[in-house]
Amino acid sequence: MSARWSEDQWGESEQRLRRKHIKPTGRRKLADLTAPEPQDIADDIIRRLIDLGHIHEVLAELKSGKEATAYIARSEKGSALLKIYRDFDARSFKNDAIYREGQVVLDARAARAMKNRSRKGLEMLQEGWVMAEYANLWHLWQAGLSVPEPLVGPHPFDYAATIPAVLMRLIGTEDEPAPRLSEAKLTPEQAQNAWNQSVQGMADMLRLGYAHGDYSTYNLLWWENTVIIIDFPQLTTRQNPNFRELLRRDAESLATSFRKHGLHETGESTLREVQRRALGPGPEPRLVLP
Ligand SMILES: Nc1ncnc2c1ncn2[C@@H]1O[C@H](COP(=O)(O)OP(=O)(O)O)[C@@H](O)[C@H]1O
Ligand SMILES: [Mg+2]
Repeated sequence: MSARWSEDQWGESEQRLRRKHIKPTGRRKLADLTAPEPQDIADDIIRRLIDLGHIHEVLAELKSGKEATAYIARSEKGSALLKIYRDFDARSFKNDAIYREGQVVLDARAARAMKNRSRKGLEMLQEGWVMAEYANLWHLWQAGLSVPEPLVGPHPFDYAATIPAVLMRLIGTEDEPAPRLSEAKLTPEQAQNAWNQSVQGMADMLRLGYAHGDYSTYNLLWWENTVIIIDFPQLTTRQNPNFRELLRRDAESLATSFRKHGLHETGESTLREVQRRALGPGPEPRLVLP
């Protein structure tokens, strides 16, 4: 193992953060966040990312979810969001079948291992999850959508080396990461603006042939009056026989999750508007140099 990473470094970052005296103005400010546990599985992958030159240091744990933990990190390209998937057990994939239906796995042995949830199969599922998130992120980013910039790639060879982690640009700042729309306080005008952008974002994905699969204010960030879409491992294409149903479900959960902001759209009218806008012009593609 490399000597460049040590427990001292965790302590150092923490102390520095405390010295920075961050003003406590919200629920998810850096000062309130816990320092990551040095001994957990994140340790190995963080060391590897540092050795590969993708990040310099990890500043704090931002949020621990069902399948992954999000950290704030620093990289050569600026502040980064490091999403590290947890060591998977069989339960993690309880609901993955609906998203993967229609995908063809050519290797029969691999297909069987994944189906049976063997150790190897779970590992393959996790790898597939991470690779899908990067690939989707790159595609959407290059197509000009409002998503965080992926910081490793665009070649799969490069991002395969960061499994089980995904590295992307941090939305917001290190002191104040962008809130999710589910927790943002919006004026009625901002709520309307956020709704409009969220519907447009879903339409932009549909134009490219995608349904997000988990589209709601929980996976939409809000920063400087802009909506940024996140969380893409379960993106599905029209190949999937459940595509229409997933799309309908996304429209439904988008509408429902916006009630809190005073909007009362139905899933049906949302879906119609998304489909209408998907026929319209999309964003300007971004030029990405290899
Ligand atoms: N690029 C980003 N910039 C800032 N915060 C982010 C970014 N990506 C994710 N987050 C934060 O991390 C949390 C978890 O990320 P997400 O991709 O939604 O994973 P999951 O929901 O599977 O845990 C999000 O709810 C959000 O608060
Ligand atoms: Mg999420």
